[in-house]
Amino acid sequence: MSYVEFLAAAEDAARTAGQILQSWAGRFTVSEKGPADLVTEADVASQEAIHRILHERFPDHAFLGEEGLRSAPGGAEYRWIIDPLDGTSNYVHRFPYYAVSIGLQFRKELIAGVIYDPTRDEMFAARRGAGATLDGRPIRVSRFDRLDRAMVIASFPPGVTADSLPIQRFLKVLPCAQTIHRSGSAALNLAYIAAGRLDAFWSTSLKAWDVAAGALLVTEAGGRITSMDGRPLDIEVPDLLGSNGTGIHEELSALLSGNMAAG
Ligand code: IPD
Ligand code: CA
Ligand code: CA
Repeated sequence: MSYVEFLAAAEDAARTAGQILQSWAGRFTVSEKGPADLVTEADVASQEAIHRILHERFPDHAFLGEEGLRSAPGGAEYRWIIDPLDGTSNYVHRFPYYAVSIGLQFRKELIAGVIYDPTRDEMFAARRGAGATLDGRPIRVSRFDRLDRAMVIASFPPGVTADSLPIQRFLKVLPCAQTIHRSGSAALNLAYIAAGRLDAFWSTSLKAWDVAAGALLVTEAGGRITSMDGRPLDIEVPDLLGSNGTGIHEELSALLSGNMAAG
């Protein structure tokens, strides 16, 4: 089985999931997993479809999905990592910035990933060593190389408090960047860095399913992904700085990992 076939299966699953999300629009009910941490029937239906499609084709692979999906057949070397709806809060408010994210690891190394935005019908995809694409066409990160010329996105955990470290970090970067946003979808942020639409993004509250596909997209598009202080990314650890790989990465790393009062 080749990486190309894995990627084609992931794209099929993501597109089907995206249709399901759109079909649930306006008729879902919202539950809170924690303060401001939302889930709907659409999240669950999307995950079920992705799992069904991929499990049927790859019955001996392991699965990790945000909505309670954990399976690890003995000896499984491949693991699919799924966020069936990244940006649930945006989805609930009909703000069109959410996506399906599916990553694939082989022996813990990311080898394929897709992020699908059903509102724009955009499919971002990457295979290890083969580059990143948007709707089949190659994409590259942007060339902006100074923070004061850059558009960046900050991320805050659900239920963030005013005196917390994420807010202190945000305030440190605010006067230094040209434009700073909070978007609500970590996966799309990473896809946008890969596509050259965004220069950097950081977070200390992400899970493996938020990051798996996007991390590969960024590196395959020529960008850089590390922890905030510049160490190699571990997708199981919530500490991520992604960028177009220019000097913006070091500028942000210095601001974000500098000493700050605990919060
Ligand atoms: C959330 C989004 C958001 C990030 C949160 C995530 P969800 O995922 O990626 O951008 O700030 O930490 O939980 O809940 O919409 O899948
Ligand atoms: Ca998510
Ligand atoms: Ca989710």
